[in-house]
Amino acid sequence: MAKCVLVSGGAGFIGSHVTVELIQAGYDVIVADDMSNCDLTCFEGVKKITGREDLPFVKMNFCEEESVNALFNDHQIDAVIHFAAFKAVGESVAEPLKYYGNNLVSFMNVLQAARIKGSAVLFSSSATVYGEPDILPVTERSPRQSATSPYGNTKQICEDMLRDSVKAYDGLRGIALRYFNPIGAHPSALIGELPRGVPNNLVPFITQTAIGKRECLSIFGNDYPTPDGTCQRDYIDIVDLAKAHVCAVSRMLDGKMKEDYEIFNIGTGKPLSVLELVNAFQKVNGVRLNYRFAPRRSGDVTAIWADPSLANRELGWKAERSIEETLAAAWAWEQKLANK
Ligand code: WQD
Repeated sequence: MAKCVLVSGGAGFIGSHVTVELIQAGYDVIVADDMSNCDLTCFEGVKKITGREDLPFVKMNFCEEESVNALFNDHQIDAVIHFAAFKAVGESVAEPLKYYGNNLVSFMNVLQAARIKGSAVLFSSSATVYGEPDILPVTERSPRQSATSPYGNTKQICEDMLRDSVKAYDGLRGIALRYFNPIGAHPSALIGELPRGVPNNLVPFITQTAIGKRECLSIFGNDYPTPDGTCQRDYIDIVDLAKAHVCAVSRMLDGKMKEDYEIFNIGTGKPLSVLELVNAFQKVNGVRLNYRFAPRRSGDVTAIWADPSLANRELGWKAERSIEETLAAAWAWEQKLANK
C-alpha cells in the first residue's frame, strides 16, 4: 500500500510543487491549508498536473490542536511535511506575536500528533538561520547566527523543537531542509508563486515588472563587496527543491536515516548576483527590464550560497534545472496569470 504524506500548507507555492512530486513518486497525499495566504489556484493546478481530481483537501488551521489531532486520528499519516507558516520577514518585525503564535504553535501541534502516531516529520527551514556567514559556501555545520527577524527566529526555534523532541521521544524522527532562495514555477505553468500585494522577493518583482504590473525594479544596493556590487544568493528551482522533499521523505520512511534528526542544505551551490539574475532573465526571455539601483535593503546579507554536498550524497538529490529554464518557467507563469 502506498505510504501517506500530509502536506500542511500544501496549497501554497512550495507545498503545491511538493505535492505534485510526491504524487508522481507514488505517495498518497493529503493537502491541508487554512487558505490564509493563498487561493485555490495552485491546488486546482496540482489536480490538473497529476490527474488526481480526487486529491484530498482539508481546510484547517494547524494552530487548532483539536483539528490537528482529529486529522491524525482519522488517517494513517506516515510522514508530515510542515509548510503552514507565515513568511513575510518585514511583517514579522511589525507583528512578532502573530509570527511566534502562528509558526510555533502550529508546529508544536504537528510534533505532538506525530509523536503520538509515529509519523516522520519534515520541517521546511531556511538558509536564513545562517545569517551573514563568515565562510562561504555554508555547510550544515556552519554556525547559526542570531536571527535578524522574528520570522527567522521562528525557523531556528522550530528546528530546535524538532531536534529536542527527536532526542526526547523514542520513535520520533525528523529532517529539516534548509532552503536557499526558491524561485521559478512548474514547467506546465499550472502552478507557481502568487504573492499578495507588492512582492518582497526578487523574482516575482522581476516578472511583475516585465509584464507591466510594476513600473521599475529597484536593485537594493550596488556597493556590496561582491564582484559586481550586488548581493549574491543561491537561487534554487522550485521543482528541484520539491524533489528534495521526496528524497527526504523516502529516507525517513525507508529506514535510511543515519541519525533520528538530520539537516540538509537545499541549494545549487552556485552564487548568482542580483544583476546576473536580472541579465539572465532579460536574455532568456527576450524582454527588457526597467530597473534602477536603490539603497541597500535593511536586513539583507551580502552573500550566501550553499554547500549542497551532504544532500547530494545522502539524499541522492542534486539541483538539475538551469537558471535559464527556471527563469523561463517563472516568466511563463506570470504570462499565464496575466491571460487569465
Ligand atoms: C534576493 C536578493 C535583495 C527584491 C528571503 C527570506 C528567506 C526566504 C526567501 C521566504 C536580495 C534583492 C529583492 C527587490 C532586490 N524566505 N532584491 N529588489 O532576502 O535572500 O530571502 O526570501 O519565505 O528567508 O529572507 O530573498 O528574493 O527577497 O532577495 O534587489 O525588489 O534580491 O536585496 O539581495 P532573500 P529576496
